[in-house]
Amino acid sequence: MKATRTEAYGMAIAATIVTGALASDKTICCQALDGIAQLEGTIYHPNTPAYDERMKTYWSLSAALEPWCMVLPRTAEDVSIIITTIVDNECPFGIRGGGHGAHALSNSLQEGITIDMGFFNTTSYNAYTKIASIGPGAHWGEVYNTLTPHGVTVTGGRSSSVGVGGFLLGGGNSFHSGSHGFGCDQVQNYEIVLADGQIINANQEGNPDLWKALKGGSGNIGLVTRFDLYTIEFQDPSIPHIWGGIVGYDYAQTEAIIDAFVDFTNKVGDDVYSSSIIIWAYNSLAGSFYIRCMLDNVANEEYAPAFNKYLSVGNQTSNSLRSATMSNITDELVRDYRTYTIWFTGTYANDPRILRFIASKHEEMMLTLDSILGPDSGLSSSQQCQPMTQSMISRGQGNNVLGLEERIASSGRPGFMCLIYVGVERAEHETLAFPYVESFWKDVDEYADSLDGNWGWRYLNYAYRTQEPISGYGAENVDKIKKAAQKYDPKGVFQRLRSSGFKIPK
Ligand SMILES: Cc1cc2nc3c(=O)[nH]c(=O)nc-3n(C[C@H](O)[C@H](O)[C@H](O)COP(=O)(O)OP(=O)(O)OC[C@H]3O[C@@H](n4cnc5c(N)ncnc54)[C@H](O)[C@@H]3O)c2cc1C
Ligand SMILES: *[C@@H]1O[C@H](CO)[C@@H](O)[C@H](O)[C@H]1NC(C)=O
Ligand SMILES: *[C@@H]1O[C@H](CO)[C@@H](O)[C@H](O)[C@H]1NC(C)=O
Ligand SMILES: *[C@@H]1O[C@H](CO)[C@@H](O)[C@H](O)[C@H]1NC(C)=O
Repeated sequence: MKATRTEAYGMAIAATIVTGALASDKTICCQALDGIAQLEGTIYHPNTPAYDERMKTYWSLSAALEPWCMVLPRTAEDVSIIITTIVDNECPFGIRGGGHGAHALSNSLQEGITIDMGFFNTTSYNAYTKIASIGPGAHWGEVYNTLTPHGVTVTGGRSSSVGVGGFLLGGGNSFHSGSHGFGCDQVQNYEIVLADGQIINANQEGNPDLWKALKGGSGNIGLVTRFDLYTIEFQDPSIPHIWGGIVGYDYAQTEAIIDAFVDFTNKVGDDVYSSSIIIWAYNSLAGSFYIRCMLDNVANEEYAPAFNKYLSVGNQTSNSLRSATMSNITDELVRDYRTYTIWFTGTYANDPRILRFIASKHEEMMLTLDSILGPDSGLSSSQQCQPMTQSMISRGQGNNVLGLEERIASSGRPGFMCLIYVGVERAEHETLAFPYVESFWKDVDEYADSLDGNWGWRYLNYAYRTQEPISGYGAENVDKIKKAAQKYDPKGVFQRLRSSGFKIPK
């Protein structure tokens, strides 16, 4: 089969070699896939209903770049023949998991083929091994719904619509991070398709170097077709609930909420089941700022003492705290509209001055953007910060490549990770807003630097395209990823032909 394909496209390959161009063109690449009987029905072309419907499922309009064609494999064998065909024909490609990446070139691409793992969306549970096997194209809400009847859950996303693939390969911050670390720390085994088409497994016993490199290494080494995750039993398996929700406060309570957050972050090591995220948000339609705090306890303990300081802050404007299923809690964080989105991230020492600076800069920036973009821009923002603690970091037992052990050790205190997210309805507004959001983050970094409170670590799953999150893992971890890439992808296909996602720094 391989020989036939190479013969059929031999001319195209020869042309590529002669001109020295990196990539083949649209016709060569999409026709190469079209010519493979096994893939019949899995290739979607522009101007067809299937293609158009699929484009509507990207979470961010900025990321929804229209590829030459997209391919939606059904099996690992499909993935294998797809990647070897792509390599044989020198075709640029992107990888889509659940489709929640925010920026252009997160997942899809304009000049190339999108390998869309959307049909890898099943979850199964083995009650004997207590392992859940989850596809990279699944969304966490579906995963929780499948696992809940078994009285178990996993370290997944806090919004039910978030995808599995990108989340687990970039880290994965969950309600269970205090007790179980990052999502990647709970992966017992990866099934992965390499650039040469081999389908292999990576776990602690077999290919452990690859197993480690995938715990933060994102799409740099291969196409993951299955994640086997350790599961977590609910405190009371007969009541598969956690406790939590969102408390809204008057924006004037900013100072009090910063105090509560700093206190929570310093003490949350004492209660690893409780987590919190503070959010400053702006909505141009309402013309107002507001505060939201997400408070959650995975032991299903109501009003755990860890939350006392938050809950003693007055002037609450809303409160959805309740005991509920994972899918009910995570459905609260799903939005039913799409925007162009600009994301930037940073991680800092737990110093209230940095939080005050972020809050006031966010306010200043949003008022400026509102006046520049004018009415009807649909401008909105969400400036979120969440604790980064020793208990979260040490659960990785040194097996992931995120490099956070060194960061927290040299900082000597807990930290917090922030995400600024600005949404607009039109592409030209994204272009106008972009430099403001970029310089907002530069200002925060510089201020934190001046207080010796910048961890210099950027969470891959919250990072903008230019933020080079992997270099923040530190030289030793970058080296581990590089070595694994050299061994499992010796031709450097995932560095050279993959045009979306984050790369290994040179
Ligand atoms: C509303 C919302 C809520 C969020 N909540 C959380 C949260 O609670 N915690 C958290 O940590 N993050 C959260 N995130 C961030 C989230 O982790 C990232 O957006 C992540 O990339 C989502 O994964 P995905 O598969 O949907 O992404 P995609 O955009 O499909 O993929 C992102 C990248 O992952 C790589 N990738 C995906 N699948 C594969 C695969 N099978 N093989 C190889 N590479 C692959 C691709 O190269 C791609 O570059 C949230 C995002 C949103 C939009
Ligand atoms: C899996 O994805 C396919 C294609 O998008 C969809 O039809 C199906 O309903 C999904 N299955 C689950 C369990 O979500
Ligand atoms: C709560 O809001 C009211 C009216 O907006 C205000 O008068 C009062 O001072 C606020 N209380 C606190 C504790 O901030
Ligand atoms: C959670 O469940 C309650 C009770 O069934 C329901 O009223 C509420 O709408 C659900 N919330 C979400 C976000 O689904």
